[in-house]
Amino acid sequence: MEKGRPARFRIPPIGLGVRVRQRQILRQCRLSAQFTQAIHTLLILKKLSRSFREGGREHRVLDSVDARISNGESVAIIGRSGSGKSTLLNVISGIDRTDTGTVEFDGREVSSLREPERTRFRRQHIGFIYQFFNLVPTLNAEENVRLVLELNGVRGAEARRRSQAMLTEVGLGDRLSSAIDTFSGGEQQRVAIARALVHEPQLLLADEPTGNLDEETARQVFPLVLALVRKRGAMLLLVTHDRALAATADRTLEMREGRLIEPSK
Ligand SMILES: Nc1ncnc2c1ncn2[C@@H]1O[C@H](COP(=O)(O)OP(=O)(O)O)[C@@H](O)[C@H]1O
Ligand SMILES: [Mg+2]
Repeated sequence: MEKGRPARFRIPPIGLGVRVRQRQILRQCRLSAQFTQAIHTLLILKKLSRSFREGGREHRVLDSVDARISNGESVAIIGRSGSGKSTLLNVISGIDRTDTGTVEFDGREVSSLREPERTRFRRQHIGFIYQFFNLVPTLNAEENVRLVLELNGVRGAEARRRSQAMLTEVGLGDRLSSAIDTFSGGEQQRVAIARALVHEPQLLLADEPTGNLDEETARQVFPLVLALVRKRGAMLLLVTHDRALAATADRTLEMREGRLIEPSK
């Protein structure tokens, strides 16, 4: 018997059957899978800059933004209107380009990907929640959610089963076939949350998801988003005006003068 090594790293002595070796290797793989689930930096923003031309002059909206965010972390992003919060989310997801700097996701530089790789990356790894829900009005709740799976190549009974399960998780399991215009604002946002998470993205981007909801509904929807991403171990970047809601995330950052900084009091 080897001494001084944890049991999982002991090498089976020669002569043991292949089955035993296979079992040991499988166990090590599972342990290393758990290990990679442990906290690591998933998103790295390096010197991100983005300017827009405005009335003949350059307006630098992002000015060398640096940030490192770990998997499973929920980060609230606050900042005054026009400070560049939406621009930042668009640059991270690749909807908008950067002028300089890089976005690195899970060790991969996504900012230099070309379309259609960038679109594929976004579809697979990112979920979105918007202020105005952005649901397809001609599809029912279940079809809105299922659409994301179909875009990722999941179809038929499997797609239906997953979209139904996800809508049940947000408390709308009994409204699967209802038309979108029969839902209240808070309910539409819950459909949108289901749509954003059904494909199990590693990163959820939410741009003022409670901005179009009354205060009481906002106070129900916000914790629901946090709870669902925490359950999945996903990362959340959540733009909000509401400092009280922001305080319930793991960390708050403020967009100010083109940078992401620790918030001012
Ligand atoms: N596509 C664009 N073209 C020109 N200006 C833009 C564009 N997108 C954003 N801006 C400008 O960038 C600034 C930041 O906008 P935005 O990121 O939407 O701010 P926030 O989400 O913090 O309110 C604003 O001054 C806005 O007018
Ligand atoms: Mg915005």
